[in-house]
Parts: sequence; C-alpha cells; structure tokens
Amino acid sequence: MTDANSGQMGAGQTDSGQIDNVLIEDRLFLPPAEFTKKAVFSTQQQYEEMYERAKNEPDGFWKEEAEEHLHWFEPFGEVCQWNARHVQWFVGGKTNASYNCLDRNIDAGRGDRTAIIWEGEPGDERTLTYNELRHEVCKCAAGLKQLGVSAGDVVSIYMPMTPELAIAMLACARIGAIHSVIFAGFSAESIADRNNDANAKLMITADGLYRRGKVLPLKQTVDEALAKSPTVEHCLVLRRVNDESVSMTEPRDVWWHDVVDPQSGELAATPLDSEAPLFILYTSGSTGKPKGILHTTAGYNLWAKRTFEWVFDHRDDDIYWCTADCGWITGHSYIVYGPLSAGATCLMYEGAPNYPAEDRFWDLVEKHKVTILYTAPTAVRAFIKWGDQHVDKHDLSSLRLLGSVGEGINPEAWMWYHKKIGAERCPIVDTWWQTETGGIMMSPLPGITATKPGSCTRPLPGVVPIIVDETGSEVHDHHGGMLCIDKPWPGMLRGIWGDEQRFIQQYWASVPGKYLTGDNARRDKDGYYWIMGRIDDVINVSGHRLSTIEVESALVSHEAVCEAAVVGRPDELKGQAIAAFVSVRDREPNDELRQELLMHVRKQIGALAQPDDLRFTATLPKTRSGKIMRRLLRDIASGKEIAGDTSTLEDLSVLAKLREEES
Ligand code: PRX
Repeated sequence: MTDANSGQMGAGQTDSGQIDNVLIEDRLFLPPAEFTKKAVFSTQQQYEEMYERAKNEPDGFWKEEAEEHLHWFEPFGEVCQWNARHVQWFVGGKTNASYNCLDRNIDAGRGDRTAIIWEGEPGDERTLTYNELRHEVCKCAAGLKQLGVSAGDVVSIYMPMTPELAIAMLACARIGAIHSVIFAGFSAESIADRNNDANAKLMITADGLYRRGKVLPLKQTVDEALAKSPTVEHCLVLRRVNDESVSMTEPRDVWWHDVVDPQSGELAATPLDSEAPLFILYTSGSTGKPKGILHTTAGYNLWAKRTFEWVFDHRDDDIYWCTADCGWITGHSYIVYGPLSAGATCLMYEGAPNYPAEDRFWDLVEKHKVTILYTAPTAVRAFIKWGDQHVDKHDLSSLRLLGSVGEGINPEAWMWYHKKIGAERCPIVDTWWQTETGGIMMSPLPGITATKPGSCTRPLPGVVPIIVDETGSEVHDHHGGMLCIDKPWPGMLRGIWGDEQRFIQQYWASVPGKYLTGDNARRDKDGYYWIMGRIDDVINVSGHRLSTIEVESALVSHEAVCEAAVVGRPDELKGQAIAAFVSVRDREPNDELRQELLMHVRKQIGALAQPDDLRFTATLPKTRSGKIMRRLLRDIASGKEIAGDTSTLEDLSVLAKLREEES
C-alpha cells in the first residue's frame, strides 16, 4: 500500500454541541495491485455501475440478486413494497435462512468443506463440515420441536461462544422460531427483561463459560432470571464446563445431551415467508429500556451474504475470522448468516484475547492460517498497549485482509493495524453499520478503494446515505449533520418488537421518509463519509452500545441514590468510558457505598455497564426547566475546562461545587 500523503488529527465535536469538521486526515492508501487483480470488485467502474443500478433500478437489481443468492421454495412476486417506514422485500416468496446457510451449500457439492473451525479457551478444538453442521442443526431443531417450540415462538439464547450457539441459532431458523441471543455478560435482570419483553417460550444456556481461565456460572444467572420469566416453559442446558453443582429444576430444565443428542440428523427446513421474523436482538436506545430490533428472513439473509462477499472479498481458500461474540449483531451477520450463506470457512474462538497470554489472537491466526481478520478498534488499542513483542512471536503472513467494526478506528490504531498486523500488505476495511441496518452499509471495497484512516469511505450498492441538518435539509460536503438513509435496503430493521410507537419515534419522526441512524457524519470532497459520534445519549464502550439513561436508571434503583447522571468520557482503550455523578441520601458517600453501587449496576445490567468513575455530588447542574446539563458533566468527567454556554444553568454555584468535590 502507498502512503500517498502524511496526515494529522484534530478533535471531533465542539463544546457547544455543534458538529464541526476538525478532523484533518489526508493520507491515502491504495489497494495493492496484487490484491486488486483477483478481487471481487477489481475496477472502480464495476462498483460505480452496480451502485448506480441498485440506486436507479432497485427492483431489477435486487430481483436478480435474490434469485441468484438465495434458495426459493416458492418464488416471490413484488420485489419491494415500501410505504416510507414499513418495508417488505421479496413479497410472498418462501425461503429459509438455515437452508441457505447449509443445504444450499451441500446441494452445490460443498458438504465436505469446513464450515466452522472452533477453538475453546482452554485449547480444545473442533471442526465441523457443512454436512456435519447441518446434522447438528437438524438434531437441535428436532430437540426444540420436542420441547414444544414451533414457528413464531421466541427462543432466548444465553450461551458461551461454542459451536452450539451457532447451531442453536440455525436450528431456530430451520423451524421458523425467532431467536433472541442475549450476550452472556448480561445480568439476570437483563435476561428477565428481555425474556418478558419478547414472551420467550424457551431458553438455551450452558452450565458455565470459560473466561480467562475461570468458570462463570451461566446457569446460576439463568436460574435467577427464570424466576422472573413466567413465559419460559423449558430451559435447555449444554454441558460445557462440567459444573457438577448446577441445579436442574424438573421438569423445566433439560440437558442438551439428553434432548438433542438422541435426535435424528435429518429435518427438512420449513419454507418460510420472506418476511417471517428471523431474530430479535436487543440493543440500547436513547431511553432506558433496551429495544428488540426485529429482522426478517429473506432481506436480512441476502444483505448479510452479499455484504460479506463484497466487503471481505471472499474466495474459496479463505479462512475467515470474525472475533465478535454472537451476542451482538456482528456475530449474527458475520459469524453465522453472512459467511455460512457464502459457504465460507470460519474460525470461531470462545475466549479472551489475553488468555493464557496476550498473544492468543496471533497464535490463532498463525495456527489456523487465517486470511481475513475482522475485529474491533478497542481490541486493536489493547494490542498496542500490550506491546509488539506478542505480535512479533508469530508468523502472520497468511493474512490478506483486515476489518474493523463497532466504532470509528482512530488513525493511530489504524496505522498500527496496517503496519504491525497487515505488514503494509493488507487492505483495511473500516465497516460502518448498526444492529438496525442488519449488515455493513459503508465500507471500503478492498480491491478498489483508496482508504483514508478514520473514514468508512463510501456506501455499498443499495445504500443511499444523506446528511441533513435539524430542519431536514441536506447539508453541503464538509459540514457535519445527521446521517440518514434515503431508500430502503433489504437488511433494514422491520420494527422494534412490540413497540411500534418507539420505532416511529426513534427512526422515522425526525426526518420524514428517511431512516435516522442516530449518528452524525460528514462527507468530504471525494464523497467519503466520516462518522462523528452519536446524536443522542448513546455511548459506545468497547464497541458496545449503551444508553446513559439505562445506567442512570440502574443507579437510581438503589435505595441510597436520589439522583444520578451518567456521561461518556474519552478513554484510550475503550473508546468511551462511563462516568457517573451520583447524589445520595441517608448514607455516607464513601468507598464502601461506591463499591456497592458499582456492584448494583453490574447486577442490574451486567459488567459491561459498570461505571469507570463514580463521583458523589450534592447537586447536579440543571437547566431552569430541570434538565441535567450533561454537556457540562462531560467536560468535568474528561478533565476539560468547562466551555460553551452556561447561561441556562439554574444555579451557577453547582459548577464550583462540582469542581471542589473533584479536588
Ligand atoms: O455509532 C456507530 C458505531 O456503532 C453504532 C452501532 O452500534 P451497534 O448497533 O451496537 O452495532 C455495532 C456493530 C455494527 C453506530 O451507530 N459504529 C459502528 N461501526 C462504526 C461505528 N462508528 C464509526 N465507524 C464505524 N466503522
């Protein structure tokens, strides 16, 4: 790759909350000629033509794509029915995502190809061919049926990153059950909330999971959750850690090896309507309650497959590794549905990147000869911190392409990733997308896009971004504004589970007819997009979305807390860290209470939401109308001088007090 220019970085957002463009990054990295020769997209013209066709003639474009890339039990009629908010793709058609991931590959003679290479944290290994994976999926699907699950039922999955997690997802898809995967770091309260919101009928979990050599008791957490989840009839439990102390409540709880293992490995995939719900995935929004993002079958499946093939330039001999957890959308789209539909060979890893040592990822890359690595900026920053010696021990010459997701990758991390991991040979695809979008929306295409560190570059075919100001008018290049998507695309969310009002309010009310992403962005002179952070109170901690209000609600649910405000502050490793300002009653604001409150948040939401700083304060800065002025708290939390307008502050002395409390 060529470093065409040198670059420099500025800051991101002004104190007044206005979005200004202060990021100056003009380095340009061209794809290596060798890469381009064999790439899926090998000329700019190919991209431009496809992009224009998808934009101007979407029905024709997507009809061909769907016919070529999915299996149809019954053909669809209308390609896209769109009423400025609700969309249906491939109307009336019948397909099945599990069939597309498994049988379609097997029918094409690829049954003996390796689908999943799995490595557990303790070092145990398994590989599953497409034939073997289908066999396991069919057994699990038959087990689910035996437990009374049928099409349209919701199944919550709370599991370690074992092959059975992917198997459970595909088993649900096979029979038309809707999976709701809950990241295995969430608390019992969070699981129960999700079970109840979705009316889950069944839970799938394991006795425990390995994390940094220790065992976390998953089943125990699930037991606590099930005590508050009246709709769940059965809990299917995988034995992963051989925890003898696990308690099984009969007849509710059943072992995977008792129910799934004896089943036959043959079960025909149910033909499902294109718009049959495939999964719900809960994510944080700007209010406290997590929202269940709904994705349906055909459009999502097609979007995951095609974006995978385009962005990761997939070839037959690739060993592809996405380091995400299936508990997040990245795992859904780029561990399970995208790569498997494309017939890829995927590495799946169960554990921590620093167990038993900080070189575990590089050990895996070397051992399994990984060619494509897709990870998150927060991981890259951790690798930088741990030191180059861990990387230097390993031969990473199998790598040919690197990906990034979850948050913007800062140019420093980008350059390290490029030089140290990619040996200046591998293009980097910085992929921008969201739980709601189902798959990647903007990304370099590695064979043709000259990349700029920190930019997700240009939209994929089918994506029509538009940046608008508060009045909904399009803004000029170089000016920041709200990022919206103008036209429907097959992978878009279909709703928020059980909450139509919130769906409208959140995504469609601000700029009528356009999907509001919640991100700010600007476009530069080359048509490249730069994501500039969120519009709302969502923060991004280690690539995971959390709403500040969610953490505040958890804090105020503690009896000693009268009021709490939570803000994000910049953090070298996590991107953003969580800072909490708390006022208490009837208790001494001391370290003991601080620990108690931190534990309380862990219990309410999970370890990922535990504040990094928690300060006690007598009062919070508020406007005269009683709104907490988070902007000021953000300045205090990040140790900055308070700038911007303070004239709306109800009581100016609050700021002085907060500073005093700090010192
Ligand atoms: O703010 C953007 C940020 O992550 C948000 C979506 O989070 P989530 O739904 O959890 O999905 C994460 C995995 C797709 C976005 O609204 N984000 C994600 N990728 C990028 C990003 N911000 C900048 N650059 C990215 N590549």
